Amino acid sequence: MTANPWVKITAQNTEYWETLAPYRLGEPIAFFRQGGSTLTDEERAAVGDVAGRRVLQLACSTGDEAITFAQLGADVTAVDIAPSHLTTAQAMATEVGVRVEFLEQDMMSLDASLTGFDIIYISWGGICWVPDIDSWARSLAHRLTPGGMLMISEHHPVWEVLTSRADGTLRVGGDYFTAARDGYPDPDKAPQVICEIGIPATTPRSYIWNLGRVVTAVLGAGLALRSLREFPDEQNYPGLGTSAMHLPATYLLTAAR
Ligand SMILES: C[S@@+](CC[C@H](N)C(=O)[O-])C[C@H]1O[C@@H](n2cnc3c(N)ncnc32)[C@H](O)[C@@H]1O
Repeated sequence: MTANPWVKITAQNTEYWETLAPYRLGEPIAFFRQGGSTLTDEERAAVGDVAGRRVLQLACSTGDEAITFAQLGADVTAVDIAPSHLTTAQAMATEVGVRVEFLEQDMMSLDASLTGFDIIYISWGGICWVPDIDSWARSLAHRLTPGGMLMISEHHPVWEVLTSRADGTLRVGGDYFTAARDGYPDPDKAPQVICEIGIPATTPRSYIWNLGRVVTAVLGAGLALRSLREFPDEQNYPGLGTSAMHLPATYLLTAAR
């Protein structure tokens, strides 16, 4: 078996995410009890009826989306590298009364047993932790059942490198064409919790994968691209007003085996 060349990055990022664990508690129990869903309408439409289908969520953190899939009747496995996040996720699933298999695993070197999924899903700040997008896509493709779907629902890489200012102008705060980044080169793009607690001692290593790289990786893995939709969101560009609706904020990609 080939050694995982990203072990050091994973260790560094695990330490980083463990630091954030006390501040990331996921949705409150009442949210799920009242039938709340952390999947967007577009995600729901893209996956269709998931009842009885096998779903693998990558980088699940505190399990909000995994629990939503389980509430919709899916048979869910969800992985993350941060044990404390998984503990929070497991406790929430138990409280909600759904079964999800939460596993501590690096999405770059998943167990061979994790295969036969109808849907593999990653979302909202998940893909930025993939150190090699081509290897990642290749390592996932054969874990799908024939006809199974990879669904990526993410912050748009254009949004990742653009910051809006209160005066309605835009600043280029990152490089669309260079994936790797240490820490937060653009403090405006740091998660809210970092603004509250300050930058942790362990610097994370993350990546901005532009759309061309993502699509090329998916095709290179032998998957068939089914859809690539881009969406605006005014809240992602504060200060721009309605002009924000002319820029991409998120995207949703689906591909099939
Ligand atoms: C922003 S959160 C996840 C997003 C999730 N969709 C959500 O909204 O909660 C990022 C997660 O990625 C996890 N992560 C980072 N690198 C990973 C890796 N190599 N394999 C699996 N999970 C990873 C972190 O531990 C963290 O829980």
